[in-house]
Amino acid sequence: MKTSQSLLLLPLLCALAWAQCPAPAELKNPNGTKICAQLYTDNSPYYDQCCKGSVLLVQPDEDQPYVPSAFNNKVSSLVVAPRCELSVWSRKGKAGNTRKFKSGAFPRLQEYRRGIFGDWDDSISAFYCKCS
Ligand SMILES: *[C@@H]1O[C@H](CO)[C@@H](O)[C@H](O)[C@H]1NC(C)=O
Repeated sequence: MKTSQSLLLLPLLCALAWAQCPAPAELKNPNGTKICAQLYTDNSPYYDQCCKGSVLLVQPDEDQPYVPSAFNNKVSSLVVAPRCELSVWSRKGKAGNTRKFKSGAFPRLQEYRRGIFGDWDDSISAFYCKCS
C-alpha cells in the first residue's frame, strides 16, 4: 500500500520541479521593481514544462523594433504582468503581422494564430511593452 501511494505522488513532485510559467503577478526584477513581460525561448507540448530556455526580462515602456538576435524568431512562451500589454510584430522594424498580448501566461505560442497559415511560435521580431 505504501509503495503504490508514493509511486502515485512521484509524477506530482516531478511536475513541481519542472519549469512552469510564472503567474503574471509574480513578475519582478531581482531588485523588486515591476517587469512588463518575460519572454522564453522554449516550450513543450506539456503545459507544466513551458516557459523554459533563455529568458528576456522586458521592462515597462521597453521598445524593441529589433529584438536581440538571441531571441529574434525564438520566443515560444511569454507572460505579461497585470495592467500591462505586450505588442509584438513578426518582422523587424515592427513590420509584418502584429498582435497584442494582454496580462496573462501564454505557455504555447503555437496556439495563437498569426495571419492565415502561421502561428506566433518562433515568430516575434519586434515588441513594445507598456503598463498603465
Ligand atoms: C531595477 O532593475 C531594473 C532591471 O535591471 C532596472 O531597469 C531598474 O532601473 C532598477 N531599479 C532600481 C530602483 O534599481
